[in-house]
Amino acid sequence: MLTETAAALDIVRIRAQFPALSQSVNGHPAAFLDGPGGTQVPQRVIDAISGYLRRDNANTGGAYATSRNTDAMLAEARAAVADFLNCGADEIVFGPNMTTLTYAMSRAIGRDLGPGDEILVTRLDHDANVSPWLALEEKGVTIRWAEIHEESCTLDLADLASKINERTKLVAVGYASNAVGTINPVKAIVRLAHAAGALAYVDAVHYGPHGLIDVAALDCDFLACSTYKFFGPHMGVLFGKREHLQRLQPYKVRPLTDAIPNRWEWGTLNHECIAGITACVDYLADLGRRTNAQAATRRAAIVAAFEAIHHYEHGLMERLIAGLLQIPSVKLYGITDPARFAERCPTLALRVVNQTADQTPVALATKLGDRGFFTWDGNYYALNLTERLDVEKTGGFLRIGLVHYNTVEEVDRLLAALKQIVE
Ligand SMILES: Cc1ncc(COP(=O)(O)O)c(C=O)c1O
Repeated sequence: MLTETAAALDIVRIRAQFPALSQSVNGHPAAFLDGPGGTQVPQRVIDAISGYLRRDNANTGGAYATSRNTDAMLAEARAAVADFLNCGADEIVFGPNMTTLTYAMSRAIGRDLGPGDEILVTRLDHDANVSPWLALEEKGVTIRWAEIHEESCTLDLADLASKINERTKLVAVGYASNAVGTINPVKAIVRLAHAAGALAYVDAVHYGPHGLIDVAALDCDFLACSTYKFFGPHMGVLFGKREHLQRLQPYKVRPLTDAIPNRWEWGTLNHECIAGITACVDYLADLGRRTNAQAATRRAAIVAAFEAIHHYEHGLMERLIAGLLQIPSVKLYGITDPARFAERCPTLALRVVNQTADQTPVALATKLGDRGFFTWDGNYYALNLTERLDVEKTGGFLRIGLVHYNTVEEVDRLLAALKQIVE
C-alpha cells in the first residue's frame, strides 16, 4: 500500500529534486525529520534565488529594466501565494517571517483596543500566535486562554466556546500544532469568533506543508504562514482580508504608498527569497499535475498535490506511530488512535518514561543526530503546551516530523535506531 502511494507520488523523482537530501553524516544517510523546524528546498528554488541575484537584483519602482523585472517578479510571487491560499494577490503581505508579521498586525489591531476588550489565545499554539497578543495587555486588553484535553493534546472546544463573548475582539488559533501535530477545527472556530463579532487570526505555519489551505472556505480574517516550512525560502506570508488591510492603520514610513498590500510591507523586502517563493509554489503545482493531469489551473494543481501528499504522509505516519507504540519505554503525546488520524499531521512528540540523564530529549536528539537522523528537542516555542504538560523543566519532547520527501525506509531505520538507543 505504502509502496503504491510512494510510486504514485514518484518519491524517487521528488527526492532527486532536493539536493540536500543526498547528504550523509558519519557515514549514515541523512534523514531530514526536522521539517517542522524548516524543510529542504528543491533545486528550482535555489535556481530562482540565484537567478534573481544574477539577473534582476534591484530595488522596486525604478524606471529601468532590472527594477521593472523586480516589480514583475513580486507581482508573480503574490499571484503564486494567492493560488496557494486561495485569495486575491492584493491580500498577500510579504515579511521576514510569521512572527514579525504577526507582531505588526497585533500592533495595528491593538490601536483600537483597550480595557474591557478581550483576546482569546490557546495553550496549543506556538508562542508566535500568543506573545504578540499578550503584548496588548499593556493597553489593558484581557487575554483569555482556551485549554486542551491533555490525553489527546486537542483543543477543548467547549472551553474555547465558553470564553468567547461580546467583549472578544480577536481569536488567535493555530491550524496545526508544531509540537504534537494536532489539526484544529479552524473553520468552526472562525465561525464562533465571527458569531461574537470577533476577528479570527490563524497561524498556518505548521499546517502549510501538510494540507491544503483555503482562506476563502475558512473565512478567516488573517492567516499567516512561513514559506521555509513548505519547501521555500526563509520568509513569512500573511493573508489579510482586503477590507482589514485597507481599514487598519499600519505604523509605516510616510513616503510608503497607502495602497494594499504594500502599506504593510516596510522597507526593502528580501527580493531574492520572494523569487524563490514562486518557485516553491510551482514545485507543489508540478507535483500536483503529475498526480492529476486534469488539473487545469495552478490552484487545481495545488489541490491535487495536497491530496497526494496527505495520502502518502498518512501512510508513513501510521507506520511510524505503530512502531513507536511498540517501544514500551516511549510515551507518545497527542492523538494515537488511528480512528482520529484525520485530526493530526505527521509531527510526533515523544519522551522516554522515567527518563535517565542520557535519555532526555536533547540526549536522544544528539544520539540520533550522530546516526544521521535530524530531529528536534525542547519546546520549539510551543511553550504553553510544554508547561501545561509539565515537561518543560525536563527537556520538553523529542520531535520527529515527516514531510512528503521522507521515505518508508527512513521510518524503519529511525524506529530501529530509536529502539536501540532507548532499550
Ligand atoms: C506553528 C508555528 N507558528 C509560528 C512559527 C513561527 O514562524 P516564523 O519562524 O516564520 O516566525 C513556527 C515556527 O516554527 C511554528 O511552527
